[in-house]
Amino acid sequence: MSTEIIMALIMNLLLLLSSAALVRSGPSMLPLKSFKISGNVTYDCIDIYNQPGLDHPLLKNHTIQMKPSVSRFEFKNPTDNNKTYKKKIRCPDGTVPILRNSKDYITNPQYFHPLSHERPGAHITGVRSNNGPFRGVEGWFNGYALNIGKDEASYSEIYIGSGSDEEVNFISAGFMINPSVFGDGRVWSYGFWHGKDGKGCYNTACPGFVQVTREVPLVKPFDLKPGVPVWLRYSIHQDKYTENWWITLLSKPNVDIGYWPKELFNLLNNGANVIGVGGVVKASPSGSSPPMGTGKFPTEDERASAMFTNIEALNSNYEQRKIDSFHMEKLLDSPNCYGLSIGKGKPFQRTQLGFFFNYGGPGGNSCGV
Ligand SMILES: *[C@@H]1O[C@H](CO)[C@@H](O)[C@H](O)[C@H]1NC(C)=O
Ligand SMILES: *[C@@H]1O[C@H](CO)[C@@H](O)[C@H](O)[C@H]1NC(C)=O
Ligand SMILES: *[C@@H]1O[C@H](CO)[C@@H](O)[C@H](O)[C@H]1NC(C)=O
Repeated sequence: MSTEIIMALIMNLLLLLSSAALVRSGPSMLPLKSFKISGNVTYDCIDIYNQPGLDHPLLKNHTIQMKPSVSRFEFKNPTDNNKTYKKKIRCPDGTVPILRNSKDYITNPQYFHPLSHERPGAHITGVRSNNGPFRGVEGWFNGYALNIGKDEASYSEIYIGSGSDEEVNFISAGFMINPSVFGDGRVWSYGFWHGKDGKGCYNTACPGFVQVTREVPLVKPFDLKPGVPVWLRYSIHQDKYTENWWITLLSKPNVDIGYWPKELFNLLNNGANVIGVGGVVKASPSGSSPPMGTGKFPTEDERASAMFTNIEALNSNYEQRKIDSFHMEKLLDSPNCYGLSIGKGKPFQRTQLGFFFNYGGPGGNSCGV
């Protein structure tokens, strides 16, 4: 066969393949615009009413909520957080940014959460209150570049949930470094949920999360220099009227990112029994635990280790209180490898930072299981 014929065959094959792909995703799924953030990270601007999150069977009759009934923006002073969303994503009106190939980012979603009693290979550090029902939790926290092995993961997260080992409803959001999910060792913002059908997933790898803003995707990588943090101030809060669970970014910019619809849950209708914030790591099967936070134990210098500050909760009446005004537990299951230091800042900070703590550590081979 001549080269021309082979080329023609290949072209035909490619055309066939691409038209098949078009038929499968349907014309409404064609992105109006795309943003390539880096390497293989691309966001497609998808019609908000046709976003993959709505494909969940429990959301057949769901009406999209465009913004929370009660805004959580008031009284927040925006910070110097310009680095966070430097690379502007701005989808056209009526569309939302969806990470392309999301499903590929989830080969093996290791499922564990701070509400379960059995957490083989996981370690947690932070604070938690079981004194619900709560309508939300918020905190300000930083993420750092760390060296994490291919089969390890390290998280900084805020979470809400109800139930325990047998049946749990759970939502968490924050930073994670998780090469088995993302295929790289960068810090990513993420969201995770587990619903009433016993299923759930990270980010938008499965349907369920409804993205509402056209500017800030739930899941996004950060390219960080060693020792230079990125900050997030997140609130996970239940809408007073719809009972959907919103995630709102309270640092600059103030943005309601989206929500997990109430239809996904059966134990969260009247609030969450548990709220918490902190670091979580997953050890490799060989038993080595990765670093958490900055990889350093908390010391006198509160900038040397990772922090959570201004940690607050919404009580059952949606009133906002410091987390230590509720019955609160300290979580530290592996003090050889990680540390937790509550409220040890300089005096001027103690008022500014609200309820805060430093945490983290190097991990290693003797952290226990
Ligand atoms: C959607 O509405 C129809 C008609 O009211 C109802 O039969 C069906 O169960 C609903 N589906 C869900 C998932 O709520
Ligand atoms: C952040 O960006 C805004 C607008 O680009 C600018 O006015 C402001 O000074 C910046 N803040 C800091 C702390 O860099
Ligand atoms: C993205 O690209 C990096 C290398 O550039 C690769 O390691 C990673 O597996 C890719 N991720 C996906 C989901 O394709």
